Amino acid sequence: MRILLDTANLDEIRYFNTHYPIEGVTTNPTILSKEGGDVLSLLSEIRAIIGEDKELHVQVMESEYEKILEEARAIVAFLGKNTFVKIPITDVGLRATATLAKEGYGITVTALLSAAQAILASNAGASYVAPYVSRLENICDDGIGSVANIAEIFDASGTDTQILAASFKTAKEVLDVAVVGAHAATISPSVMKRLIAHTSTDTSIAGFASDWLRAFGNVTLLDLLKKRK
Ligand code: E4P
Repeated sequence: MRILLDTANLDEIRYFNTHYPIEGVTTNPTILSKEGGDVLSLLSEIRAIIGEDKELHVQVMESEYEKILEEARAIVAFLGKNTFVKIPITDVGLRATATLAKEGYGITVTALLSAAQAILASNAGASYVAPYVSRLENICDDGIGSVANIAEIFDASGTDTQILAASFKTAKEVLDVAVVGAHAATISPSVMKRLIAHTSTDTSIAGFASDWLRAFGNVTLLDLLKKRK
């Protein structure tokens, strides 16, 4: 399962883009509002950090059909290739998705809360659907089950639309959507850190260091290899 970073914070994007195998960045109006300031500069800095080969997902704010088309084309003209336009699932959003997909734009239909919505988005030509996992889990609904249903439906239909699972509050939810067949997941920096964290890993790494020190002293393996030349 491919992993994207769900934030517009430049320090976090720099850090995770350097250290983690992320394949892009996703934003939405709420995520952008947390950073504030000049939103166009922010988006263009994100693009500069991740480079032109990684995905950047940016959501439209317009709600009228012609305006969505105009905004989507302007977003991609501004941010370049591998920019995906996020469109919330509404009647007009589906119509705009169909038009833009036919023109070759990559569309991520977002704010999905059901597999039924995912079918419509896929049929409209979306590149991705973004089902919101924790927003369902938080109200005792089945966010993971919903992603599993979408994966099963997409497999059966042979659609090219991919599942970009979104809205995670726990690392377990991320693991669970991977198991049920999500193609990708977009994850906040805090949840990403919880994916790697394990106290036994820390203990193991500390053990390697102390065992080496006891046996070989302060000399490192690299020192020995360099001296050998
Ligand atoms: C993707 O960018 C989604 O908009 C995002 O994951 C939603 O997350 P939230 O439910 O934590 O707001």
